[in-house]
Amino acid sequence: MRALSSLLLLAAAPLALAVKLEDFKTCDKAAFCRRGKAIAQRAGENPDWKSPYSVDPSSLAISSDQTSFTAAVKSSLYPEINFGLDVRVHKDGVVRVRMDEVNGKGKRYDEAASWALVAEPEISKDIRWTVGKKEVRATYGPKGNKVDVEIAFNPLVVTLSRNGRTEVALNSLGLMHMEHFRTKEEPQPTPEAVEGEESAQTVMEVPNPRSWFEGEEEDGYWEETWKSWTDSKPKGPQMLSMDISFPNHEHVYGIPQHATRLSLPTTSGEDSYYNEPYRLWNSDVFEYMADSTMSLYGSIPVMYAHSKESTVGIFNAIASDTFIDVAHPSAHSSYTHWISESGILDIFLLPGPKPADVFKQYTGLTGTQELPPHWSIAYHQCRWNYVSSDDVRTVQRRFDEENIPVDVFWLDIEYAEEHKYFIWDKKNFPDPVDMANDVSAVARKMVVIVDPHLKRVQSYPVYKEAQELDVLAKTKDGQSEYEGWCWSGSSAWVDFFNPASWEWWKGLFKTSQGSSDKCAWIESTTDVHIWNDMNEPAIFNGPEISMPRDNIHYGGWEHRDLHNLNGMLFSNQTSQAVRARTDPPMRPFVLTRSFFAGSQRFGAMWTGDNLGTWEHMAVGIKMVLSLNLAGFSFSGSDVGGFFGNPEPEMLVRWYHVGAFTPFFRAHAHIDTKRREPYLLDEPYKSIVRDILRLRYSMLPIWYTAFHESSVNGMPVVRPHFVVFPEDEAGFAIDDQYFVGSSGLLVKPVTEKGATEAQVYLADDQVYYDYFTSHAYRGAAKGRNVTVPAPLDRVPLLVRGGAVLPTRERPRRSSPLMRRDPFTLTVALDTAGAARGTLYLDDGESYGHAAGALVWREFTAARRGRATHVASADLAAAAAAHGQAPTANAGAGADVGVGTGAVVYDPQNAFADEVRAVRVEKLVVLGLERRPGTVTLGGAELEWEFVPGVASGAGKEGAAARLVVKNPVASIVGDWEIVIQ
Ligand code: NOJ
Repeated sequence: MRALSSLLLLAAAPLALAVKLEDFKTCDKAAFCRRGKAIAQRAGENPDWKSPYSVDPSSLAISSDQTSFTAAVKSSLYPEINFGLDVRVHKDGVVRVRMDEVNGKGKRYDEAASWALVAEPEISKDIRWTVGKKEVRATYGPKGNKVDVEIAFNPLVVTLSRNGRTEVALNSLGLMHMEHFRTKEEPQPTPEAVEGEESAQTVMEVPNPRSWFEGEEEDGYWEETWKSWTDSKPKGPQMLSMDISFPNHEHVYGIPQHATRLSLPTTSGEDSYYNEPYRLWNSDVFEYMADSTMSLYGSIPVMYAHSKESTVGIFNAIASDTFIDVAHPSAHSSYTHWISESGILDIFLLPGPKPADVFKQYTGLTGTQELPPHWSIAYHQCRWNYVSSDDVRTVQRRFDEENIPVDVFWLDIEYAEEHKYFIWDKKNFPDPVDMANDVSAVARKMVVIVDPHLKRVQSYPVYKEAQELDVLAKTKDGQSEYEGWCWSGSSAWVDFFNPASWEWWKGLFKTSQGSSDKCAWIESTTDVHIWNDMNEPAIFNGPEISMPRDNIHYGGWEHRDLHNLNGMLFSNQTSQAVRARTDPPMRPFVLTRSFFAGSQRFGAMWTGDNLGTWEHMAVGIKMVLSLNLAGFSFSGSDVGGFFGNPEPEMLVRWYHVGAFTPFFRAHAHIDTKRREPYLLDEPYKSIVRDILRLRYSMLPIWYTAFHESSVNGMPVVRPHFVVFPEDEAGFAIDDQYFVGSSGLLVKPVTEKGATEAQVYLADDQVYYDYFTSHAYRGAAKGRNVTVPAPLDRVPLLVRGGAVLPTRERPRRSSPLMRRDPFTLTVALDTAGAARGTLYLDDGESYGHAAGALVWREFTAARRGRATHVASADLAAAAAAHGQAPTANAGAGADVGVGTGAVVYDPQNAFADEVRAVRVEKLVVLGLERRPGTVTLGGAELEWEFVPGVASGAGKEGAAARLVVKNPVASIVGDWEIVIQ
């Protein structure tokens, strides 16, 4: 009895967990950050502040083909040191600004961009460079929309303007500093030090002429001790500081991953919201906070600034520890200060001018979201851990008994004997291949975890081979194998920067033994996909739970230089390995916890170890929106929260959040109670079943959004400012969002006890409740409407003007829906028109790259008194509009490939395969009046009409609803239904 009551207490108690702040550095605990911050402080106190950096005009060179501009840069602090500046404009108008020390005593890390970029960008040949006395200028773009890039000489300031208005400026506040390589001077003992006093300050014998900028002290130049770790710094100080200003933009977004709002709150300046800069240093933060600038598992150093007039962005290709201050010096301007530990200056200016343009420009650089296998956008069931193969079978059986759809069952680390990945714990998983096949029998998949730490025992063949190949990360001496602690105890880490590891890693995933793959995973199947966790890398006994910064990687680079790339290289190699298992290759699914710019080419990510609290549920939405802006659309949070035992109400609301998140997976910590949906009592169980069915019915909408994202870089989920870039009232909204271009607007409830929700409607348009067809009306200046939100209903509206393709037949898994008929819901706009698209392919191969796909456009238009609802092939429709349709080019050398135009034949083999798939129902919302006839090709169709509010009536209430039964024989056919 006592045990039971304490259990109940445990379940009901609010989750009181807290991050161990002392495990992670703040800016004042990192010498390079202190030095960078101190520059900003001194600048703020000195009205005569001027950057010491200037361009040497005698060194200017514009390449003969006019493609790039180079110059020598000097710092008045160190006239003997040479820096080289290189500015070039890409074909799409993106400007790359690079600066490095030239002929110095050392080499700064300059490879971050080469890992992040999908390909070497093409340089524009249409740029006019003009050299003035005080500046060089490049102008480009059409008349009335001219972009002007100015490189001012003294001080060096780079400004990008559009039509004379400054969009972004580098070093306009004079905080730029690239600490050059130097020789360590032996410190002169001070009189105080000799006397043994605590102060060990070095007294300058001559006044230091640089102290106005650099300060008096050499703060942590050559060594730094923090807690029990000493970071040797053989290369000395390499800090890079840069101010990036957006003088005409009030909102800045981006730089995921942080648990914070979408429009980034300030970290400096008067009354700043936070008092600590945002940090980018991939970290395994246990029990992270729901409102903080702390670094989390991944880093994408892209930032967008937005105003009513324009959107502009920057991508700072740097992979070392980076702190970023954000301030709004005035109501309409934003200022940011970036302080990095090492690396060259390599900043890309994304000129915009609209949100869609910056996303295209950014994903043009780092690649678009790879089109995932279709099953992977369905529902995933995970926990740490399903403990045996019979457990997996039971879970699957219980889902089926309760008719709850699911596509994927996951295995966490306990499947592996002593956490030696690839090696099954045969006591509990005696028959892994049979287990995987039992799951595959209902067209489902499995995902199994493979972490990067290798248990250091000679009996573990994976470790042994890695050792023999000499591909393990090294300690600071560059020779010895690095040893640290993780799940597997004493472990070593593969250095994926070493190309010698790549082919070997691929071999590990082969499901049949080839002659060269000694360690193939023959106890697996090609229906088993992979989860990469702990790849920051997480190291339990390392500084900040990671690798020492002075560890050495391939090429002699220190870990500090490339830390934030580490996770991406791991998922890159894993996704290539999974893809290479079959011939022809099939689309891999790899989930990664750690990531960098470009990781979207290699799979999905999730937001790590969130807590089962309402705050975490809410902030997870903001984080996913931020990731979507940063190119990583395939993202989601653990449904239910990783830690804790969510009460049923919270769990139900969390399923709503998950169902409207690109990556939808329930996951839970090993100490939590089981919470699979079938374990819930009624009515919760039925509600969750319906939520899952809702997600499954909408998979065509999600897949179409993913496809669009893979083509043009648009986020799969889109916050308000993306859809309404001129509506200032929506710029900070981050709790409601649109799904792709579908017109679906969702506002998940993240508050306990809520029964209704306020939804903001940005425009003078009709919006229909997805479930009830109730019509709401927005207003030109924006308007909040109150939408019912009982526990069984997520606030979900359809913007007038949308056509939604759904599949309404409940199935056990998504591949079983492949031949199911469609429902088309036409939500007429105020003018009685609508448009929607549908993308389909086989969902798992690369056939789409060769044109095996279906891409349809559905339209509704008023002609006279009649409404015509039509279906056409999108290629044909695009051609009619004078555009070329583009599609993801699919396979390439790298798993992720850029966008490319694919000309496809609407009569392709895949289209033939689905030709028998029908439209079983057409719903038209908002018709003006009861139709007289509804015909297709002159033949009357079977229909029903419920009168109600017309789309253009300006009234609210139940919308008029026409339902046409079985109207069309083929989803891929061209047809026109006339309603008159
Ligand atoms: C940490 C991950 O974030 C979590 O999702 C996982 O369950 C544990 N590692 C165990 O693998």
